[in-house]
Amino acid sequence: MAFDIEMIKAVYAKFPQRIETARKIVGRPLTLTEKILYSHLSQGEADQGYERGINYVDFQPDRVAMQDATAQMALLQFMQAGRDKVAVPSTVHCDHLIQAEVGATADLNKAKDKNKEVYDFLSSVSNKYGLGFWKPGAGIIHQVVLENYAFPGGMMIGTDSHTPNAGGLGMIAIGVGGADACDVMAGLPWELKFPKLIGVKLTGKMSGWTAAKDVILKVAGILTVKGGTGAIVEYFGEGARSLSATGKGTICNMGAEIGATTSIFGYDEKSEEYLRGTERGDIADLANTIKEHLTGDEGVYANPENYFDQVIEINLSELEPHINGPFTPDLAWPISQFAAAVKEHGWPEKLEVGLIGSCTNSSYEDISRAASLAQQAVDKKLRARSEYTITPGSEQVRFTVDRDGFLDTFGAMGGVVLANACGPCIGQWARHGAEKKEKNSIITSFNRNFAKRADGNPNTHSFVASPEIVTAMAIAGSLSFNPLTDTLTNENGEQVKLDEPTGLEMPAKGFAVEDAGYQQPAEDGSNVSVIVDPQSDRLQLLDPFQPWEGTDLKGLKLLIKAKGKCTTDHISMAGPWLRFRGHLDNISNNMLIGAINAFNDEANSVKNQLTGEYGEVPAVQRYYKANNIGSIVVGDENYGEGSSREHAAMEPRFLGVRAILVKSFARIHETNLKKQGMLALTFDNPSDYDLIQEDDNIDIIGLEEFFAPGTPLTVVLSHADGTSDEIKVQHTYNAGQIGWFKAGSALNIIKENNKK
Ligand code: F3S
Repeated sequence: MAFDIEMIKAVYAKFPQRIETARKIVGRPLTLTEKILYSHLSQGEADQGYERGINYVDFQPDRVAMQDATAQMALLQFMQAGRDKVAVPSTVHCDHLIQAEVGATADLNKAKDKNKEVYDFLSSVSNKYGLGFWKPGAGIIHQVVLENYAFPGGMMIGTDSHTPNAGGLGMIAIGVGGADACDVMAGLPWELKFPKLIGVKLTGKMSGWTAAKDVILKVAGILTVKGGTGAIVEYFGEGARSLSATGKGTICNMGAEIGATTSIFGYDEKSEEYLRGTERGDIADLANTIKEHLTGDEGVYANPENYFDQVIEINLSELEPHINGPFTPDLAWPISQFAAAVKEHGWPEKLEVGLIGSCTNSSYEDISRAASLAQQAVDKKLRARSEYTITPGSEQVRFTVDRDGFLDTFGAMGGVVLANACGPCIGQWARHGAEKKEKNSIITSFNRNFAKRADGNPNTHSFVASPEIVTAMAIAGSLSFNPLTDTLTNENGEQVKLDEPTGLEMPAKGFAVEDAGYQQPAEDGSNVSVIVDPQSDRLQLLDPFQPWEGTDLKGLKLLIKAKGKCTTDHISMAGPWLRFRGHLDNISNNMLIGAINAFNDEANSVKNQLTGEYGEVPAVQRYYKANNIGSIVVGDENYGEGSSREHAAMEPRFLGVRAILVKSFARIHETNLKKQGMLALTFDNPSDYDLIQEDDNIDIIGLEEFFAPGTPLTVVLSHADGTSDEIKVQHTYNAGQIGWFKAGSALNIIKENNKK
């Protein structure tokens, strides 16, 4: 159904030569990460070695995957590219918009109704342009990708931070913003700073209560939420080879919680078993032909400190189950110390809800091990004292675990099966009573546990653990319970102890599914219409941005001089606004509403220079737009840091802001601005920021005569008192990016090129 064996053959055919060339240039054996990166250079073979953490490099990913929230704007943009089909195999997964309330069937039906316009759009646009479409209920993007698309040695990007899950099958899989996905689908290369490398050597073998999840919970404790920034984490060693492919996926998935670019394991017998078990024996056969290229070179793992920037060693034989939290995934507690920590910190001891599943932990192995505990609870006359929910990661997993009786077992324990979707993991959880904001504890087998994430209640103490530990804790109903040592009182008043969980990595009878929920795109999409209701307040087709008028920009009004931190969240807030992420006009009503105005220290209050009155930023900007007057936004250091969401660049462009002038940019946002045809400028002298006054009229001079790479421009500030200042401003546009500016956007250029 889903994978593309010819594409994989073509990728593997390039491996030996490209790796050989890279090895010669770098002059030493290569890690697995380096092999995959050097095999996916957009230029073909390497002609130089890249400096980790320094060089920006263009890559050619093999695949793109998008979830339904981020896919909307990515595909609306892609429609502007003038292509008949996507340039690389791509898929859309409807998983983020389904709210968990009463149970799988009712919740799914409600979501289909509520999100009909979004699903209709995504389904029709996928059908037209050749993307695989996974319907609501088909499963969560990363589990579906692992089951169908991930392949050893491949490279993919996905518009979701837990895309690295596919690293469990030996793929470099990286989370990106919609603009990047759009570029790759349109046939452009994808740029990444050549990452640093962290090696994690796993020795020994897990047993008993310990699960793959505990490896990453331990790593998160060591590296913290920032420790992996700019790095790819490569796992190796005998311990790594002992883990199931899905267990490896769990570890890679949660690499996002340490800020890692991605994480990866090499190809081994477990990968082969999983590929064959998910009916991809032909990929396993192909992978076996280039096996030596799907792991690090000889010697690399024997002396990892010579090849990695940092090395961590974990002995799986000694690894305890961990519980991480609350409020951050790097607060790691071995289970033997957890009960004391609960008491010491005064966290609510009573456990309200245990939630298993999600993209992180919903493999057959996870569910079967959790079910072994649920079965014990039934046999030993225990009932879950906490609420307990199960979120299967895919319809294939759900169908199989249902066939094998596990869902009935959970039901007998008091568990509720939710839809195959993100649900509570992304705050799509109509949790009864959450609005009262009571202090309470929950424990999940998910990956993130920031305040408010699951149920919107800032007082919910959320902890993260393996599905086995979550299940045991839900049975006990208490955070002070240690299933390894403690007993519980059953219905007969007897003291009983839970035995160690048991399970199977793969179903003995094989996976099964009746309807996986997949829609194959039309062979020829030329007659397919994309469905967008013109009345929709959630979706709106995009119009191309206008080309540059060919003159210097004069008489711009200062819209806002933002003070201090101004992240993409300040520029384009999330929360309820996410509903409008497919409707540029509507979501633009959140533009810069979180930024602090340097002149009055207030958010969302700026002076309208035409009326002299203060108003909300988007309203003032719409006023300027209605009067055909351009404006400029001034910002501080690292403007646009945070999530890579493209709306933060599209909204100002859409509302008529002409330039963003700051002390410094977060690089991804700067690139996003350039892609949208905006001027992204920096003060040559950062203290010139202080010269900007509230009533300034601003000219940008030099565009007409000498806008060229490396040549600064001039900005003239005309102040209200009749005085003026002339300052130098810098930019980082290369020749191609200047072309984007002139054409109005990168997409306008792509469209032109695709016409030729
Ligand atoms: Fe969905 Fe949560 Fe995974 S939001 S993609 S289940 S991290």
